[in-house]
Amino acid sequence: MAFHCMFLLAIFLVFPLSTIAQSYKNVSLGSTLTTSDVTKFWPSPSGDFAFGFQRIRNGSSGFLLAIWFNKLEGKTIVWSANRNNIASEGSKVELSIDGRLVLTDPNGQEIWARDTASAGPVYGAMLDTGNFVLATSSSGILWQSFDEPTDTILPGQVLNQRSRFVSSFSRTNASSGRFELFLDGDLALYTIKYPIVYWSTTTGGSGNQVSFNQSGIYLHAANGTLLTLISSSNETNSTSSQFYQRAILESDGVFRHYAYPKRSSSGRPMV
Ligand SMILES: *[C@@H]1O[C@H](CO)[C@@H](O)[C@H](O)[C@H]1NC(C)=O
Ligand SMILES: *[C@@H]1O[C@H](CO)[C@@H](O)[C@H](O)[C@H]1NC(C)=O
Ligand SMILES: *[C@@H]1O[C@H](CO)[C@@H](O)[C@H](O)[C@H]1NC(C)=O
Ligand SMILES: *[C@@H]1O[C@H](CO)[C@@H](O)[C@H](O)[C@H]1NC(C)=O
Repeated sequence: MAFHCMFLLAIFLVFPLSTIAQSYKNVSLGSTLTTSDVTKFWPSPSGDFAFGFQRIRNGSSGFLLAIWFNKLEGKTIVWSANRNNIASEGSKVELSIDGRLVLTDPNGQEIWARDTASAGPVYGAMLDTGNFVLATSSSGILWQSFDEPTDTILPGQVLNQRSRFVSSFSRTNASSGRFELFLDGDLALYTIKYPIVYWSTTTGGSGNQVSFNQSGIYLHAANGTLLTLISSSNETNSTSSQFYQRAILESDGVFRHYAYPKRSSSGRPMV
């Protein structure tokens, strides 16, 4: 079988959508979103990212509570809460008065929840990095989606020891699939059913943290030493801030790094 883990940088040209400016405000306690109106979501200040419900692509029977690139035409999902427990029509998410972020089905049964486990005022915010946070009034972060990746990492996101990404089952089925990237000294790609290492950074167990910035994706040791460059954003370097980037462990077990121009001036693909 062909070597299964390739790091690709694919540049796509994406035409910006005309967007209605939505003024930014914190998600305050008591706020809700429902599946009955997916045009309502919690946007980041720039509108680059949104938090809310997306109908699953295959069929019309369910919804993912997700974060997505809100200005990309495909509304590409970068995180989801309930990939293995799809929400049915009539579900809602609420940032409750006591500071819990709760997804419930139409019968009020809890599908997913994150507890800030903290006294005192709390608010939610969709940040421009693509991170959804629950924070205290002094902006201390109590919970963040960046700490619970599904299959995607974004610039600004850091993964610590024992973090994992699990691929989707298929392109049309967001459920946990067959492949896992796991950071435990080395960043390694496994098949889940029969744990075989397909690929590894072979960093001798000293890999401690994966970080992703505009220049690329890196593995560092605990003392901060750079061990390896996992994927470079070279192709976009001169204008990297003008690109959206993401890296995803796709359902075929390939970890791919994508960049999309934030706005395009010509109608031709860049590669
Ligand atoms: C949608 O899901 C059904 C099973 O639920 C499957 O048979 C069908 O092939 C899927 N469609 C696509 C486009 O993947
Ligand atoms: C969000 O709430 C926090 C805490 O109350 C406050 O410091 C911050 O200014 C608020 N941000 C916006 C954009 O309203
Ligand atoms: C998606 O994949 C999961 C895991 O194999 C499976 O249990 C589920 O039925 C699939 N969903 C659809 C809609 O095909
Ligand atoms: C990204 O991180 C690497 C490794 O820590 C560093 O060398 C590089 O300067 C950083 N790039 C940016 C744009 O911050």
